Amino acid sequence: MSTPSTEGPPPPPPPAPDPGVAVVTGATSGLGREIALEIAARGRAVVVVGRGADRAEAVAKEIGRVTGNPRVEWIGVADLSRPSEVRKLAAEILARYPRVSLLVNNAGAIFRRREVTTDGLERTFALNVLAPFLLTELLADRLRASAPARVVNVASAAHYRHRINFADLQSQQHYSGYAVYGTSKLELILLTREFARRFAGSGVTVNAVHPGFVASGFGQNNGGGFAFTVRVVGRLFGRSLARGADTPVFVATDPSVATVTGEYFSDRVVHAGDPASRDTRAASALFEQVGAIASTAPASA
Ligand SMILES: NC(=O)c1ccc[n+]([C@@H]2O[C@H](COP(=O)([O-])OP(=O)(O)OC[C@H]3O[C@@H](n4cnc5c(N)ncnc54)[C@H](OP(=O)(O)O)[C@@H]3O)[C@@H](O)[C@H]2O)c1
Repeated sequence: MSTPSTEGPPPPPPPAPDPGVAVVTGATSGLGREIALEIAARGRAVVVVGRGADRAEAVAKEIGRVTGNPRVEWIGVADLSRPSEVRKLAAEILARYPRVSLLVNNAGAIFRRREVTTDGLERTFALNVLAPFLLTELLADRLRASAPARVVNVASAAHYRHRINFADLQSQQHYSGYAVYGTSKLELILLTREFARRFAGSGVTVNAVHPGFVASGFGQNNGGGFAFTVRVVGRLFGRSLARGADTPVFVATDPSVATVTGEYFSDRVVHAGDPASRDTRAASALFEQVGAIASTAPASA
C-alpha cells in the first residue's frame, strides 16, 4: 500500500528582502535630480532630499510620474551647510526608513567669495565636506544593517593639483573660490577612501565620482559675471545632465562594481586621482579633524 504523498506544489519562494531606500541629496535640480530620476527609473525606492519641502515634494512627484515608480519620497531640508540640519535630516531618515542601501552625497557648490555660516564655518567646507561626512557617519549603522549598501560621493576632477592646509581647513588665511572648491573635493575623496577603510568587510562600499563638466545650475548661486561665464561655458562645452549622471548612477547601481570600494571614478572607470588623494595618513588625519569639527558644531539651530 502506498503512503499518501504529502507533496503538493512547492511553497512560494520567500519574498525578497526589501533592498531599502536610495537617498540622494541636492536632488531638486541639476545632477542630483537626474541621478534620483535614473535610480527611480531602475525601480528603486528613492528619497529626494532638497532645499524646501515644497520643492522636494514637487520634484519627487514629478520623478514618480515620469518613471512610473510609486516609491519616490522626499525630505525637505533648510541648508545642508548647517550641521544641525544634517542631523535633522539623518534623524528623519533613521525614523522613516528601516533600510538605507544607497546614499548619494551630491549636494555641493562653489562660492566665489568667502562666506561664513551662522555656525562660524566657511561655507564650501561646511557644504562640500562636513555635510557628506556627517550624514555618512550618522547613517553608518543603518547602512551596515542594510548591507549590501553603497555610498557615492560626488567629487570632481577639480581636486587635481590642490593641497590641504590642515592648519587652515576653514580658509581663513587665504581664499580663492576655485582653489577652495577644488580642495573641498580633494578632501571629499580622502574621506571617501577613509570611510571605505572603516567600512571594510561590512558590505558597505564608498566611492567618489567625477561626473564630468556638466551644464547644470553649478556656479549660479554666485550671480553676476561669474555665474554668467559658467553658464555660457557650460552651454558651449558642458555635458548634458543625463551624461553627467551616468557615472554616479553606474557606481551607485551597477552589479559589476558592487564590491569596489575606496575608489575615484570618472567615465565609469577607476582613476588614481591626484597623488594627494591617495595619501592614507592624510585621509585618516582629515577624518579625525573633520569629525572633531562636526562634534563641536551646534547640534540644533
Ligand atoms: N556641474 C559640474 O560640472 C560638476 C563637475 C564636477 C562635480 N560637480 C558636483 O556635482 C554636484 C552637483 O552639482 P550640480 O552641477 O548639479 O550643481 P547645481 O545644479 O547647482 O546643483 C547643486 C545641488 O545642491 C543643492 N544645494 C546647494 N547648496 C545647498 C545647501 N546649502 N543645502 C542643501 N542643498 C544644497 C542644490 O539645491 P537647490 O536645488 O536648492 O539649488 C542643488 O540641488 C556638486 O557636488 C558639484 O560640486 C559638478
